[in-house]
Amino acid sequence: MRTVFVLNGPNLSRLGTREPDVYGAQTFDDLEGLCRQTGRELGLAVDVRQTDDEAELVSWIHEAADGAIPVVLNPAAFTHYSYALRDAIAQRTAPLIEVHISNPASREEFRHTSVVAAVASGTIAGFGLRSYELALRAIAEDGR
Ligand code: DQA
Repeated sequence: MRTVFVLNGPNLSRLGTREPDVYGAQTFDDLEGLCRQTGRELGLAVDVRQTDDEAELVSWIHEAADGAIPVVLNPAAFTHYSYALRDAIAQRTAPLIEVHISNPASREEFRHTSVVAAVASGTIAGFGLRSYELALRAIAEDGR
């Protein structure tokens, strides 16, 4: 069975209590459950992780590159300024889809810039937790 990493950056462990008007009422456990359920349906082994630590997130991107493992990545606030994350993603050897729960383009100005978008395979944003499901489907259908 193909493995897919679902990697999440800072503050996403706080889904459910964090700004529910923006991110909804579902928790990180709900997100993990949704990804696992979607993975079962698509025949993918889904490895869901979250960290508030940029270095740890970069090390997981390296791990994916070394193993040619596809990634669904919500870089959270790192999206907007982490050149270290961008440089790690540029080394990818399999599809990597940037996802966002909210639609950053419709929010504050600083969220309109993604420093990682140009090195991702694509971006899915604004569909709530469904953004992850859509990204997993895109990876499953990509066939690589
Ligand atoms: C987010 C959007 C980012 O701007 C923000 O910093 C997050 C979450 C999203 O999923 O909508 O932490 O990536």
